[in-house]
Amino acid sequence: MSAEPVEELVGRAAYAGVLRFYELAKHQEWQVRDVPWNERPPVPEGKGSPQRMARRRDVWRSVVMQQLQADIIACEMAAQLLNAAPDPEARLYYSTMVQDESRHTEAWLKLIGRVGGEGERDPHLDRLGHMFLEADSLEEKVFLMQVFFERLIIPRFRLIARSSRGTILEDICNRLAVDDGIHHGSGMAYERILLERAPPTIKQQLIDAANRMLPEFAAHALWRPKAREMIGQLMEARDRERLKMELNHGVRLAASLGLDVRDVALPF
Ligand SMILES: [Fe+2]
Ligand SMILES: [Fe+2]
Repeated sequence: MSAEPVEELVGRAAYAGVLRFYELAKHQEWQVRDVPWNERPPVPEGKGSPQRMARRRDVWRSVVMQQLQADIIACEMAAQLLNAAPDPEARLYYSTMVQDESRHTEAWLKLIGRVGGEGERDPHLDRLGHMFLEADSLEEKVFLMQVFFERLIIPRFRLIARSSRGTILEDICNRLAVDDGIHHGSGMAYERILLERAPPTIKQQLIDAANRMLPEFAAHALWRPKAREMIGQLMEARDRERLKMELNHGVRLAASLGLDVRDVALPF
């Protein structure tokens, strides 16, 4: 046997991690019909006057709207990754991620229909989406979406689930926290392989991309639509604290990929 096939095998062994996430994704796959649509209220109902209840519903509607907007953008991102990834294991994996993001969108569309329909868009989320979609390299796309965004969003799902016990919203958030955990894990595994063969200029591009993305992510995390402005002011100090921890975690992830993070500037 020539040396070539052996080398090829060694090369493929590096992709075993990515393949494991493909199998995990298939194992965790759920259907929109599994959500207990008719057994639970869509969002917490609240008590008090009809006006108070309507205000409360508007607050929840804006929470759902932000997630719907994020997952519609995620559909386009996942499709780009599927198209851009040259490796068969990664392509197989991304074919499941496209389905996940599309299923998330379907679930949010159904839920928002039950709480009054679509509302105000978060402009920072749209800007984050553009940064990703216009990124030049596959390394940068995986980095922005899977390494950063999908990891930073998981505690937010947990938080929403905790404050909406017994609702459809809680059920969907719990499913999405698991799915995005897989999306993030697979991205870390794939980014490691990509960076091993990437030229040093790519690594500098990633740091520059992180510096463009982090302030926008911070603005997104602290952004409140009109419906949530009041609550927004009450929670701002706590939100900033949480955000600081999340951003620091993001920087640690970049360091664990072997990137030199000394040039990353945190927005706080
Ligand atoms: Fe999603
Ligand atoms: Fe995702």
